[in-house]
Amino acid sequence: MASHRTEAEDQPMPASSAHSPAAPRHDGDPVRRAVTTATTHPVVTTLVVIGIALAIAFSIYVGLDLFFTIPILVMIGVVAWGLHWLWRRRRPAEPSLSNAAAGRVGFAAVAIGAVLTFGAIQLAPYGRSHSNPSGTGEPQWASARTRELMKDACYSCHSNEVHYPPYASIAPISWMVQRHVDEAREKVNYSNFATDPGEAENTIEVIENGEMPPSYFTRFGLHSEAKLTDAQRKELIDGLRATPGMSEGGGQRRDGGRGDGD
Ligand code: HEC
Repeated sequence: MASHRTEAEDQPMPASSAHSPAAPRHDGDPVRRAVTTATTHPVVTTLVVIGIALAIAFSIYVGLDLFFTIPILVMIGVVAWGLHWLWRRRRPAEPSLSNAAAGRVGFAAVAIGAVLTFGAIQLAPYGRSHSNPSGTGEPQWASARTRELMKDACYSCHSNEVHYPPYASIAPISWMVQRHVDEAREKVNYSNFATDPGEAENTIEVIENGEMPPSYFTRFGLHSEAKLTDAQRKELIDGLRATPGMSEGGGQRRDGGRGDGD
């Protein structure tokens, strides 16, 4: 193989301009090549940046943790990059692409990368358990109606009666559901209230200040039963005021003994 060294080796040269078609390998470090690619294909680069920004914004809007979104985006990028690399390897003679051609190749690479990534993440075991162990005992709800409203608005996350719709088996939705349920149960699990009230004493507060149920939960008309009307919210809060343990001052104290009168 011929030596690449010349007296002008400090001059940054686009690797793809290597004149030897017999040598499909690209020289130069990947960062510099990425910058070169970005500056020679501004339209593609802009679209990619907008796509990433939209994916992140959408992810926040629907409550999909960035902890999941960012690795997924990175995976799509890596697969797309790999496909592009393989494609270039087979056409070493072509020095550079027009913007339109680069756009088509880039779009195809990202689309295939997304499909492959989507398939691959289905193999992850996380998010499949859909567990609903039996609980140790619920609060003494003031009425059946209070329980019904709590079940509609809160039990999808804070109980051992989580209803998992079919789409909750598809990654990354399954990951998101698992994470929300795990986090929510850790804070307060109303099914285990008898042995572990957790943060139940903040129940009235988080409903009153609109913190719960989380706004992402009822986006796109999903879980409409959890979206309480003003009247339902008032009804629920009245019921919770008459339920021990739902506010800091109200009902029995967490450590004050939960006797029922004797
Ligand atoms: C989509 C799942 C989901 C639903 C539905 C939901 N929560 Fe939560 N809840 C969470 C998560 C996740 C946390 C922990 C993170 C946080 O505090 O935002 C939490 C935290 C809480 C906390 C602890 C907050 C604190 O700072 O002490 C309380 C209390 C609570 N939720 C009550 C409720 C009540 C009451 C409802 C129904 C009106 C409800 N939640 C509906 C997911 C949910």
